[in-house]
Amino acid sequence: MSDHESLLLRALKRENLSTPPIWYMRQAGRYMPEYRDIRKKFKNFLDMCKDADVCCELALQPLNAFKLDAAILFSDILTIPDAMGMEVTFEENKGPIFKNPIESATDINKIRSFNPDELSYVYQAVTNIKNAIPENIPLIGFCGSPWTLAAYSIEGKSSKEFNKTKDFIINNKDEAHFFLSRLTDACFLYLRKQVQAGADIIQIFDSWANLLNKEDLEIFSNNYIKSLIFALKQDPITSDIPVILFSRNPKCDDIALIETSADCISLYWSMKNFNLDLAKGKIAIQGNLNPKVLLESKEVIKKESYKLLDKYKDFPGYIFNLGHGITPDINPDKIKYLTDIVREY
Ligand code: CP3
Repeated sequence: MSDHESLLLRALKRENLSTPPIWYMRQAGRYMPEYRDIRKKFKNFLDMCKDADVCCELALQPLNAFKLDAAILFSDILTIPDAMGMEVTFEENKGPIFKNPIESATDINKIRSFNPDELSYVYQAVTNIKNAIPENIPLIGFCGSPWTLAAYSIEGKSSKEFNKTKDFIINNKDEAHFFLSRLTDACFLYLRKQVQAGADIIQIFDSWANLLNKEDLEIFSNNYIKSLIFALKQDPITSDIPVILFSRNPKCDDIALIETSADCISLYWSMKNFNLDLAKGKIAIQGNLNPKVLLESKEVIKKESYKLLDKYKDFPGYIFNLGHGITPDINPDKIKYLTDIVREY
């Protein structure tokens, strides 16, 4: 794509722009009535993800409603464990349930190897979305980090503490590393296919980085993210594709995130003291606004978002986003309001 027109690609190259590009994590979702209308036709959320035409329609909904600067693939991070035979289902408001989670070290050897062709429904959705959006709007493809995918696969469901996962990795270190390496390879093949199908940018979601202490985060998560990004940067198909890393409130030093070689770090809402002097010239910055602000009045939304804009306006390569996804309790009018006032700033 001709990136001199795309604000997001320019910001990812660390250009200083007078208005930042705007997109939102979970920009398509239950907070939108038009999403809920389609969602109710499917019992299992993953069945909806397997319909590439529906995914395209869902990805376009927030672009039509708010005129955003990027589309994101409509899918989920758990497509990989599903394709590895763990059989993931999501019933409305229940979160993910794994039919065949990892219960023991021997289960790891029994998992099917990942065949990227099993996720052709995802690549079809990428192509459909890419064909449906304007040329100057980039499409973001994504995957979960190896660690986040392993955590769900071992826990078998969502959890606050992920205690089963924490015990498992302590008691089965070698198998955990074997599993993480296989997930890293799977993520690479999966993202490469998304890029071949039309994705312009990649985001890696390490949504459970916060579970690990500083040392374990390096060993069990950041090292695998580093290998994944290294593989992407080596491959001629993906080498020019910018990579955004969302690591949820990680207990590592800021430099450890920069050293993953991601092009951009997406800041969780509580990461208020990220070292901007250290980051300048090395990475772009995205996000950081607490999504809960969107439950407040317009005055509060304006005050809080302008505080962030004041802070980041001179940072070379700044992308406006939330510090985590839009939640179902947010009124879409607030998203419209926020988008408009950021452009007016
Ligand atoms: O606009 C977009 O960002 C849509 C694409 C998208 C979804 N999930 C759709 C979705 C993306 C990028 C994701 C990523 C994802 N999935 C993450 C990382 C981001 C984060 O929030 O940290 C994670 C951890 C998942 C796993 C997942 N998917 C869980 C735990 C759940 C259930 C919890 C919940 O919010 O309901 C999902 C379901 C899911 N993924 C929904 C959507 C729109 C809601 C499902 C429904 O309508 O029933």
